[in-house]
Formats: sequence, structure tokens, C-alpha cells
Amino acid sequence: MIMRVKIGYEKKETDVYLCYREKDEVIFFNKDKIKDIKKELYKVIKLYNFTGKREETLFSHINDKKVLVYGMEKEHSNEELRKAFSNILRLLKKNKLESVNIIPPNENEQEIKSIIEGLELTDYKFDKYMKKKEEEKEIKINLDIDKKYSNLVKDTLVVCQNVKITRDLVNENASVITPVKLEEIVKEFSKKYKLKTKILDEKKIQKENLNLLWEVGKGSSNPPRLIIAEYIGNPKSKEKIALVGKGITFDTGGTNLKPSGFVETMRMDMGGAATVFGTFKSAVELGLKKNLILVIPAAENCVSSNSYKPGDVFVSYSGKSVEIGNTDAEGRLVLADGISYVQKNFKPIEIIDMATLTGACPIALGPSLIAVMGNDENIKKKIFESGEETFDRVWELPIYDEHREMIKSKIADLKNVGGREGGTITAGAFLESFVEEGIKWTHLDIAGAAWFKAEKFYVPANATGIGVRLLIDYLRK
Ligand code: BES
Ligand code: ZN
Ligand code: ZN
Repeated sequence: MIMRVKIGYEKKETDVYLCYREKDEVIFFNKDKIKDIKKELYKVIKLYNFTGKREETLFSHINDKKVLVYGMEKEHSNEELRKAFSNILRLLKKNKLESVNIIPPNENEQEIKSIIEGLELTDYKFDKYMKKKEEEKEIKINLDIDKKYSNLVKDTLVVCQNVKITRDLVNENASVITPVKLEEIVKEFSKKYKLKTKILDEKKIQKENLNLLWEVGKGSSNPPRLIIAEYIGNPKSKEKIALVGKGITFDTGGTNLKPSGFVETMRMDMGGAATVFGTFKSAVELGLKKNLILVIPAAENCVSSNSYKPGDVFVSYSGKSVEIGNTDAEGRLVLADGISYVQKNFKPIEIIDMATLTGACPIALGPSLIAVMGNDENIKKKIFESGEETFDRVWELPIYDEHREMIKSKIADLKNVGGREGGTITAGAFLESFVEEGIKWTHLDIAGAAWFKAEKFYVPANATGIGVRLLIDYLRK
């Protein structure tokens, strides 16, 4: 399916009307739009016993006009609109409609944005490897709204497109999306927009003493990379925000091998990298007035005779040494070096890292929430608000001294595991210890949110792309 969303109205095409139920009556949101067919419309509603309750639908012909009537609450959240339009898109596809006019219940920015998100994010299928693919038919969506919203429509489409690109990257085979492939993807995008990049290959990683990144990656024949790109959207300002994403292109667990039942989805362990790339790409395409540094420490965590071992001690790029308690706690290692490298060489005032970091995260917060930790209350508050707004929802976990105690080692400055209890927090505490004084740091654990077992309205099963809309909303504030 190729969906095309634009502003307009086509007289001969199907109209989609939204309505609600009040005091046993069906009421349409846009009374003036239905005035020519109002009488007939109410006749049909009566005939089919349509009551206008939530998610109730009715397809009908009125005179020469096809209409789809959809019930929802009079007072509805943006999320309810996204869900409604997710349902509506499925109905349109099922009924093989090729062009429809959509009349938003209330013509305002938030609602228009949510409607487009509901439609666009539902229109996704990773069927690259299927013999029978979705039909390549076009479906035209005409939004019956004022032309003044054209930039809003355009921008929303850009972000949705990048959510889908993020999903594609995460869904794709680990043998395709290797660290080198991630490098190529970032370079290709950067070239198009003339952005500066800095790539550290396996030789430079060793030469520069990015030892944690090297150790995690050295057991694989797909060599590690540190991938950096810079976007200066506000040249007048010296302030830069670093977006650091965990780029483990496959996580076998290493010598602490993951068992069956846990390893199958681990191509998604570059979800953090894909999400910060989707965010960075959106920011560039939208021309956001921010200075951003994209940082992807990328490696494949494999088992081989050359892999790093439990019990090893390594000195990180920062100079702090780390005892390897478990080779499956690799994400925090590559992130630690990524964070240290960007701090030293790019001097950002703020760092946001995003990672599928701990299996304990969905255990603590359920399957879809993002855990946030960090040292700046104001940023955490803003990110929480962006979570409520976008429904890429976020919940804070604390980091206290007792958690910091848990990652102490007897033979090194730190240990990469803190035991089973509070696993998401001790991972956060580990990263925190690499953050330099004065830098605003926020950590987002997307281990649950990045990958869904089952589809939920506009979020498909498998890669979700959750986090892109969240960060764009936050960066816009
Ligand atoms: N990539 C995993 C975390 C993960 C698990 C993400 C499930 C998504 C779904 C991470 O590298 C990992 O294995 N973490 C360990 C840490 C432990 C060894 C301290 C975990 O969560 O079990
Ligand atoms: Zn792991
Ligand atoms: Zn991992």
C-alpha cells in the first residue's frame, strides 16, 4: 500500500465523518460539513441502528456519495485519535477504498498531527522477505483542512517516515545491519545534507583506546565502529546535544550465552542506534534549530575463541577500569566509551543516550514503557511531558548510592553487573559514572518499548520505532 496524504477535498470520493453519542443521540463533530445530506444520513443511521458509541462504524451510500461514519468520544485525547484513525485506515484497506476525504473532528494542530500519525504509522509492514507482499495500490487521503496547516502536515509526514525507517533498520537481519552497514547508512545520509562525520574503524578504535568498544566487538568477524555525525542547526550557538545510541547489531550474550527463548530477537539490540538515527535524520530534515551530535558505538557481541571473557578487566577510554562480571552486559560498555569519547572530543552540554539496555526494564515497567534516569530534573520533566504528548511514554527510575554500591568491584574501578535486583538502575548507575561533572545527562532504556510481541493499533509487532517522536517532541521544546 502506498498512502498519500495531502490537504484537499475531492467531491466524488468517500467522506469520513466522526461522531459521538450524547443523551442517546448521534452527533457529528462537523455539523456544517454534513448539512446537505444530514436528513438522509440520520435516516441511514436509524435504519442500521448505529448508536455512535466508541469504535462503532458504518459504511453507506447517500445519494451518490459514499460515507464512512465512525464513533468516538466527544472529549478525546490525542492518543484516542491516533487509535481511531489506525482503525479507520484498516477499514479503508479492507474495503479497498482508493481515495477518501477526512474531516477532522476539531481542526487544530494537535488533532491534525494525531490523525496523520494514526494513519501513517499504521501503514507499515516489513514484508521484504515474503513472497506475497502487500498490494502496491495507492490510497489517497485528502485532509479537508485549511491550507495554513501545510507545514504541519509536511513535518508530521517526515517524522512518521523516519519512525518507519527506524523500524526497518531494527527488523532487518543482523547479517545485513552490521556495524559497517550502520556506518554506510549514516555516511550516505550525511553526504546528502553535507554533514560532517567522523568514523573510527577497528584500527582507530584500538589506537584511541576505546577498549570497551573494542573488547565487546573483537569476537566477531564483523568489526566494530564508532560512528559520529554532526548537525549544526543553530550556528549562532555553541551548545551541542549528543544523542548516543546502543548499536549492538546482534547480542548473543557472548560467553555468558543467551539461552533459547531470549536470543531470537537480539537483532533488535541496535534499537537505540536506530532510534537516535531516526531522530537525528528527522531533526535535519525538519531543519530544527539545534546543534546535534549523533554517536553510535556499534559492535556485534559474539561467542568465539577471540571474544572477551568473564573475569577480564579492561581500562576504558575514560581511564576507569571495568571488571567484566558478565559478557551479556555489553551495552553499557560500548555506551560508556561512546559517552566518554563524545565528551572529550565534542564537548556537548547535554547527552541523551538511548539503549535496549536491560531485560529488567520491561520486568519493572511493563512491556511498553521507557525507563528514564538522569542528573537534570528539568530535562527529565520535559521528556516525561513529551512522553505523555506523543504516547512514547516514559517513567523515571531513581539512582541512589545503594545502587552505585552494587557495581563496585574488588579488582577494578567498576563492575559491569550489579546482580539481578534493580538491574535497570544499576545499568544506569554504570553509565552515570562515565558522565563528566557539569554535563546534563539523560538515559533512556527502551528494552521493552523498542520491540512488541503483538501489534497495538498503530504500533506493529516487532520493531516499533518508539522513541523517535518522543525525542523530536523534546528537541522542539
Ligand atoms: N540486550 C540485552 C537487554 C535486552 C534484553 C534487551 C531483552 C531487550 C530485550 C542486554 O545486553 C543484556 O543482555 N542485559 C543483561 C544484563 C545482565 C547480564 C546484567 C540482562 O538484561 O539480562
Ligand atoms: Zn547483552
Ligand atoms: Zn545487549
